[in-house]
Amino acid sequence: MEIYKVIFFLLLNFYSSILIVCFDPLSLGSAAIVGIGSLVYEKVYCRWKECCTEKEIPGDINKLENLLKLKVYGQHIAEEVIINALKSHWDEKQPPSKALTLSFHGWPGGGKNYITGFIKESLFSLGGASDHVHHFNARIDFPEVSKVLQYQMQLYEWIKTNVTKCPKQLFVFDEVNKMHSGLLNVIKPLIDYNSYVSKVDYRKSIFIFLSNTGESLITEQMIKLHRSGIERNNIQLQDFENLIIKGSFNEEGGFHHSDAIKSNLIDHYVPFLPLELEHIRACIIDQFQVRGIYAPSEDDILSILDYVEWGPAPENIYSKTGCKRISQKVALVVHKYWR
Ligand SMILES: *[C@@H]1O[C@H](CO)[C@@H](O)[C@H](O)[C@H]1NC(C)=O
Repeated sequence: MEIYKVIFFLLLNFYSSILIVCFDPLSLGSAAIVGIGSLVYEKVYCRWKECCTEKEIPGDINKLENLLKLKVYGQHIAEEVIINALKSHWDEKQPPSKALTLSFHGWPGGGKNYITGFIKESLFSLGGASDHVHHFNARIDFPEVSKVLQYQMQLYEWIKTNVTKCPKQLFVFDEVNKMHSGLLNVIKPLIDYNSYVSKVDYRKSIFIFLSNTGESLITEQMIKLHRSGIERNNIQLQDFENLIIKGSFNEEGGFHHSDAIKSNLIDHYVPFLPLELEHIRACIIDQFQVRGIYAPSEDDILSILDYVEWGPAPENIYSKTGCKRISQKVALVVHKYWR
């Protein structure tokens, strides 16, 4: 593919130089030739093939900030860590010294994938459909334990060729806890400090790991904090980070006894907190709004809350499934409003 791009670019420059020579051979220098060439390149070539400029990769952190504020409930720690980490990572004034690596932990339905979706949408014009966005699911993409070596080679090759093409790539690894523990070791040299591996610079890329590991530790810690009277909004990253590191290191899965963790290459462990009644309510109302219903009845909200399971005893204040399946449940009752 690369070679086509080069040929295309050269051809464009060639034609535009002929044009320029015909019209005004003296005053327009070679700078102008290249200028016109790249203009046409951007206007034409980037139309049918995703390029690697600010247009395709706006990296719009303000948009992300607004989306998270508007659409995510109960995850103040995650929001803060993610925004700050991304803001500094693609800061042109201070190039990063290593690839950004974030590891999201917590209960299903807490918003790990949901927030990842907003990250894709804000960093890349085409969002999840962008060629620069890669979402791997352990069970679907790397299912067979016996093929780990093959997966490793394939993964390395994919990451390398994509980053060579365009340095700002996003790699998401979903269900890391179900991933064979050796697989992620292949990434380690790529996410290390000042990583130039075979002349490829990986420092601008972003790796996000999603897993349920640490969920019970997070919940236990939440209950402890709750019992000692600390308000949810005052809970901080420091209250969790060490717990999660221990958790993902010891539980089975992609990080199990992993080199990446041993050598501290994960920049931030991000806890996704279990959601409480008020957050689930907000999710429900949000889902009604998505379907154009701005004043759902209290009865309907309660009927959807009935599906939600709470735990752990005796407090039972945390939803076991977060906002998962709320959307489907709301879909079941909205038809009433359409008559
Ligand atoms: C880029 O990564 C994707 C996986 O997301 C892979 O299918 C594709 O082949 C890679 N591109 C190149 C040029 O290797």
